[in-house]
Amino acid sequence: MNIEKKNGEHFRVTPWEVHGEVDYEKLIRDFGVEKINEQILEKIKKHTKELHFMLRRGVFFAHRDLNWVLNQYEKGEKFFLYTGRAPSGPVHLGHLMPWIFTKWLQDKFNAELWFQFPDEEKFLFKQGLSFEKAQEYLNDNILDVIALGFDPKKTRFLVDTMHANLMYKEACKVAKKITFSMVKSSFGMNEQSNIGSIFYTSMQAVPAFLPSVLKSRNIPCLIPHAIDQDPHFRLTRDILPKLGYYKPASIQCLFLPPLSGMNSKMSSSESASAILTSDSPNEVEAKIKKYAFSGGRDTVAEHRKHGGVPEKDISYQYLKMLFEPDDKKLQKIHDNYKSGKLLTSELKEILIEKINMFLKEHQKKKTLAKKQVKKFLKW
Ligand code: TRP
Repeated sequence: MNIEKKNGEHFRVTPWEVHGEVDYEKLIRDFGVEKINEQILEKIKKHTKELHFMLRRGVFFAHRDLNWVLNQYEKGEKFFLYTGRAPSGPVHLGHLMPWIFTKWLQDKFNAELWFQFPDEEKFLFKQGLSFEKAQEYLNDNILDVIALGFDPKKTRFLVDTMHANLMYKEACKVAKKITFSMVKSSFGMNEQSNIGSIFYTSMQAVPAFLPSVLKSRNIPCLIPHAIDQDPHFRLTRDILPKLGYYKPASIQCLFLPPLSGMNSKMSSSESASAILTSDSPNEVEAKIKKYAFSGGRDTVAEHRKHGGVPEKDISYQYLKMLFEPDDKKLQKIHDNYKSGKLLTSELKEILIEKINMFLKEHQKKKTLAKKQVKKFLKW
């Protein structure tokens, strides 16, 4: 559990809630992850030729043992990737960020990807979510993931309830090494927490070593994820050596902020906060125009005179974090906005067009994905 202060305000980041304006420097210190520096970027670049814009721009900003996993790679020991999604609602743009980056890693390192869908997680943690409803989201969310273009030959989906025969035994081995007091301090659970939620982290640990179990040899693992998931993997890293496996390496990204401003993270439960992958062009336009927090000035005259504040402007941030990979184009937008040449309404138009172009393709691929589900699930 993390309650910290930034400018006198509280913020909190756990795997189940994110509140307040996140101070990422403080998170780095409190969580004990390492900041991504120039040296490690160079090391990545040696193998990938170019750097993904999310690395160049610090969207992926921290890691654990990335040096180690790359050293092993250089010695000829390939790693597999592991990430996941607990179905709890429709997929929004914030979810896509780490997945798009994971796809890039898969392509660049020719890595196998294990994608977990813990379909019991949100049932256990959320009031009012039935197992049946979670299954509906599961079936839909799976299509969003496939639509991003993961290579079916190199990608395996693990659905906790469907692959329980493989996973449960391994989860028990993890669970036996975790005490209630460890879970209390890692996740802030208490005497009132349901016992399913107390056990859950052992299920999320499993994909980090399941490939090693199945292939009867130790294989390094790299987990791309949003920083809120780190408490799970901190525990996983403590336990796996005790079971004879490598500690998984990880790489962490920021949260995509909600439409309403640079505060907490995008959430599907507030429509004023999120753009869903299922949104129509009109919905996208209406949401951006109505809700996207503007770093512009109150009047056009003032904006022309003083210019806007890109750091606070949600439309600019979405371009930077997700929708404008071209550094030169982004810089131009930044400079023009800052100087007052570009108005908020014009900036919003740029973003709306980018998102709608992306979603048009994504929705098409999502329909086609239905035919591919089996390939990812049955292996
Ligand atoms: N707990 C994650 C969620 O709430 C799902 C998840 C499972 C995950 N395994 C993961 C996320 C590995 C990142 C990496 O959606």
